[in-house]
Amino acid sequence: MPGYKLAIDGPAGSGKSTISSLIAKKLGWTHIDTGAMYRAVTLQAIELGINLNDEASYRFLETSKIHYDFDRIFINDRDVTEGIRSEGVTNNVSLVSSFPYVRKKLVDLQKMAAEYGNIVMDGRDIGTVVLPHADLKIFLTANVEERAKRRFKELTKKGKETHLSKVIEDILNRDQKDSTRKESPLRIADDAIVLDTTYLTIDEVVNKIIELTDKKEN
Ligand code: CDP
Repeated sequence: MPGYKLAIDGPAGSGKSTISSLIAKKLGWTHIDTGAMYRAVTLQAIELGINLNDEASYRFLETSKIHYDFDRIFINDRDVTEGIRSEGVTNNVSLVSSFPYVRKKLVDLQKMAAEYGNIVMDGRDIGTVVLPHADLKIFLTANVEERAKRRFKELTKKGKETHLSKVIEDILNRDQKDSTRKESPLRIADDAIVLDTTYLTIDEVVNKIIELTDKKEN
């Protein structure tokens, strides 16, 4: 029996992954972070030394296995959960995810993963492309300063040296690329509920979304 499908989309730093993971844990559902999948392809492409600008060179995806499980991501059974957060990956992931061939490969995997059971999937095109018939679609936003502050805190906590102005620049850059690309750009699905999280705590957002899933079930 197919389960409940919850789609969570939003721009960089809107809190999608953290919030989706907490919702899944609270409800005992499966969480899939599709951004982590695009990051894994980017990491593998960099490691293989392919020409990142050439769509044909992503054919390596025919034989690679990308797998997301319990908040960890694997390429051919190698755990790359930490590796996909590197600066090299962050700077190139919007380019890699703009290629229709790459998107088709990952969207097929994502659709398959969502076929059975209760699922929370987060990304940029979940409500519009991957799960157009999701039971509930949420679009998370927050102003760019707040999103950059959250990302800055995350990076400094991990011991990475950076400046807030640099993080703002990176986020604006990625927002611009993600929302203007030809293939599945970041946009709000017509039937999505928009939640501005600028002045909300993580718990407030989590509880609000769980409340909405309850309402949608009845
Ligand atoms: O850094 P952040 O958590 O905001 O981003 P992410 O969710 O890890 O996604 C990284 C990048 O992957 C995005 O900037 C998009 O370019 C791409 N992406 C996408 O194109 N479609 C998705 N469904 C998810 C991510």
